[in-house]
Amino acid sequence: MTEKIRPLIWQGRALKLLDQRALPEKESYITCHTLEEVQKCIREMAVRGAPAIGVASAFALVLAAQKYIHDLNAKDGLKNGFSPSGLQNYLTLSGDALRATRPTAVNLSWAVERMLKKCRDLGAVSPETMLTAFEREAIHIFEEDLAANKKIGSFGAKLFAPNSNVLTHCNAGALATAGYGTALGVLRSAFRAGTIKHVYACETRPFLQGSRLTAWELQKEGIPFSIIVDSAAGYFMYKQEIRSVIVGADRVAANGDIANKIGTYALAVLAQANKLPFYVAAPFSSIDLSISSGEEIAVEERAPEEITTYKGTPLSPPGAQAKNPAFDITPANLITVLITEHGILPFPREKQLRRFVQQRGRKLG
Ligand code: MRU
Repeated sequence: MTEKIRPLIWQGRALKLLDQRALPEKESYITCHTLEEVQKCIREMAVRGAPAIGVASAFALVLAAQKYIHDLNAKDGLKNGFSPSGLQNYLTLSGDALRATRPTAVNLSWAVERMLKKCRDLGAVSPETMLTAFEREAIHIFEEDLAANKKIGSFGAKLFAPNSNVLTHCNAGALATAGYGTALGVLRSAFRAGTIKHVYACETRPFLQGSRLTAWELQKEGIPFSIIVDSAAGYFMYKQEIRSVIVGADRVAANGDIANKIGTYALAVLAQANKLPFYVAAPFSSIDLSISSGEEIAVEERAPEEITTYKGTPLSPPGAQAKNPAFDITPANLITVLITEHGILPFPREKQLRRFVQQRGRKLG
């Protein structure tokens, strides 16, 4: 069962991360004791997926705060007192280092910002009080994400008619979040409600989040699925074997454009050409009203070796060039609905999206 997939385990003084590079062959955890170790895991994609890297960053800042106070204590037994503003400055720099790891998903920045605000709001308190409250905030971020996913799942499950065949891309599952998943969480809930017949999972070159991770989750859940190569999606849509598409998002701009795994835009165009609905599932922590459109989203460019090699084996002639954008932008006009933990927004365009966010009592950006 999904609830058994635990991508992040907080242990009070360490963060354990399920190493997603080793899946599906091996289920092994990396234990991080420092912010730098978490940072490395995010950069190298041992932990990945927009909400998961946000949650990991929140815990990384707790590790940084623990280290700061531990070092002060070791230096002079805190004889010279503890300055909350010194800690705030240290955490601001630590937050900047985390933000630099993967720029596209807004959840990472959002989590860092929320943790820094907590630290500022706590003001002049003892180091013990600071650490306890700070850790509690990271745990809240984790728990809220899990709860949001389950709500996204139950709202989204209503979109599917019985016997649905659905395509998904990349991995927006338990592994990409605190647990359960967004797009894959919806499929999970819909399957439990009895409406999903078959899931098509794009393999998602070059990191293979679909064929390695989504397939692993679907298999654990007992959902019937087929992996297809990314370029086969149009073929199955044209034949109407696939009847809808659902994906997650790394960032939703104010006008409803989204950033998601490279290949998402092509799927949205294909869905429109074949008159199929294109669903996006994302929590409010992925919505960034501070940017007006997808054009302003920084798209991460990853190493060409991810394309030209696989686990050290060359796939291309020596010296071959490759371009490896990790994400693309899907314009709002190709999106049928946005599924969030606060409900479903049909045709998420600027006016509707701003009103939707405001009405649900959250001010973002
Ligand atoms: O590069 P990745 O694997 O971190 O990309 C992940 C995606 O694109 C997901 O679809 C997105 O983060 C949403 S996860 C709930």
